[in-house]
Amino acid sequence: MTFNHDVIVVGAGGAGLMSALYAKEGGADVGVVSKLHPLRSHTGAAQGGISAALGNEEEDHWLWHAFDTVKGSDYLGDQDAITTMCQDAPRTIVELEQYGVPFSRNDKGKISQRRFGGHTRNFGESPVKRACHAADRTGHTILHTLYDQCTKQGVRFYDEFQVLDLIMTPDGEECCGVVAYEILTGEIHTFHANIVCFATGGYGRAFKTTSNAHASTGDGMSIMLRNGIPLEDMEFVQFHPTGLYRLGILITEGARGEGGILRNSEGERFMERYAPTVKDLAPRDMVSQCIYKEIREGRGINGKDYVHLDLTHVGDQVLDRKLPEISEFSRTYMGINPKEQPIPVVPTCHYAMGGIPTDDDGRVERAGRGSTIPGLYAAGECACVSIHGANRLGTNALLELVVFGRRAGMAMADEIRSGKKRAPLPENPEKTTRDLLDDLMSNTRDEGEPTVNVRSDLQASMMDNVSVFRNEETLEAALDDIEGFRERAKNVVVEDKGKRFNTDLMDAVEINFMVDYAEAIAACADYRTESRGAHSREDYQQRNDDDWLRHTLFYSDGEGHYEFDDKEVVLTRFEPKERKY
Ligand code: FUM
Repeated sequence: MTFNHDVIVVGAGGAGLMSALYAKEGGADVGVVSKLHPLRSHTGAAQGGISAALGNEEEDHWLWHAFDTVKGSDYLGDQDAITTMCQDAPRTIVELEQYGVPFSRNDKGKISQRRFGGHTRNFGESPVKRACHAADRTGHTILHTLYDQCTKQGVRFYDEFQVLDLIMTPDGEECCGVVAYEILTGEIHTFHANIVCFATGGYGRAFKTTSNAHASTGDGMSIMLRNGIPLEDMEFVQFHPTGLYRLGILITEGARGEGGILRNSEGERFMERYAPTVKDLAPRDMVSQCIYKEIREGRGINGKDYVHLDLTHVGDQVLDRKLPEISEFSRTYMGINPKEQPIPVVPTCHYAMGGIPTDDDGRVERAGRGSTIPGLYAAGECACVSIHGANRLGTNALLELVVFGRRAGMAMADEIRSGKKRAPLPENPEKTTRDLLDDLMSNTRDEGEPTVNVRSDLQASMMDNVSVFRNEETLEAALDDIEGFRERAKNVVVEDKGKRFNTDLMDAVEINFMVDYAEAIAACADYRTESRGAHSREDYQQRNDDDWLRHTLFYSDGEGHYEFDDKEVVLTRFEPKERKY
């Protein structure tokens, strides 16, 4: 079947819903195609807050926020886009509140704000309360509110339709739709659109330990690669310092914002040694690296590979009212009451700094600035604007979703109002997808193996070789492994031969996508011979601005052949300096 819309948004998390809402309010006819029910999107797992220099608790300025974001990014974030985001943040929070987000309140009845890693007053003097929150369920409330707004405005939702390909015009110059697999029926559909916006989220599932939902399999990024569109800065993978030991489930940084302390086996508050000014509220790249250093030097708890997050002193009221979700998670999954015992934590793969290159309005770029592809947008975690550079500050992800989702929505509506036409469909737009699914369905047990085997081997290799610390040897080991995973992924056996809810088949597709972007991450990490932000090379321990103050663009044919290009970093106000906290 063919569905027609002015705008098709792929993905229904915060960025997808915000762009859909604004495109619709701007007069476009909008369809949202999502592999999940929208309310299961991973935005719902964001806990601790969304930043804005509201100054509700103490003096704050958008310029301080911008400085912190640039410094947090290890000077790789584009400063024009960061300025746009930080200036727009206060307005964004008011708008979310007016839509109905139930933010927590302080004693004066204003939106409550708390401290978060890397957010400081007066250009680094001391931590500042900048994270607006709804207890520790901030993403959940934003997701539900935006979904309400979209349904109220008449956005059309296609739930549990998994997008498997882009449709480009025959010359490859313009996007005119997507191909999607309807999970309920097993039918393949064409969505013909004037404009497509990808908001497909992140890829945390490529790593063994992750805070990400099962659905965070990076499909959108791989679909871009397969259509000749590059990915930017894929070497920068964020590990959140505090995932529950062995499980990776997120324990919000808001816990440290409310006074939580990280301790090693000696009970020492070890972050005081590494970041004397901000201590436990250093940015995530640093805290995750420090936790691993403590473990490697034998100061993990009981000689094991975790440390403690101590909340026993913060008070019952704070835990009950401001951190109820993580208190519940600790009790449910670890049998630990954080009022009485410290929580065992370990870094967990959390966020993709890199992704699909876009301009500040979400237009996808093929080959650096200005090279936008007509009819194609991206927003949210799958996109790389680039706000976060080499390391994102906590709470800037939710902010990015709403600020840049809105900008993309407005830009798409403008284009539709200005008469942007729907390019004609090429002949047989579903062919690549049908071939992919037919090949997977026809694999037999003689040649192949279950998807889960390949997926767990890939996750283990990425975790061992491409996580917080890397070096040439581990990265080349990962690239060798990935070459093997590519062949194994093509041959995985789909046991379920039915059409209805064939999640076995979708898992098989996803592992093929996972191989593509796992290669992008490992190859870009191998290519960048310096340490910057979350990319910590044991064999190149210094940041090297002379050679590497630039973004990486990665192109691949999806068959193991790839190449790199560069893109300049936009510097405006803040000169790169050594990062000290
Ligand atoms: O720690 C957290 O609550 C996560 C927030 C974020 O990733 O921005």
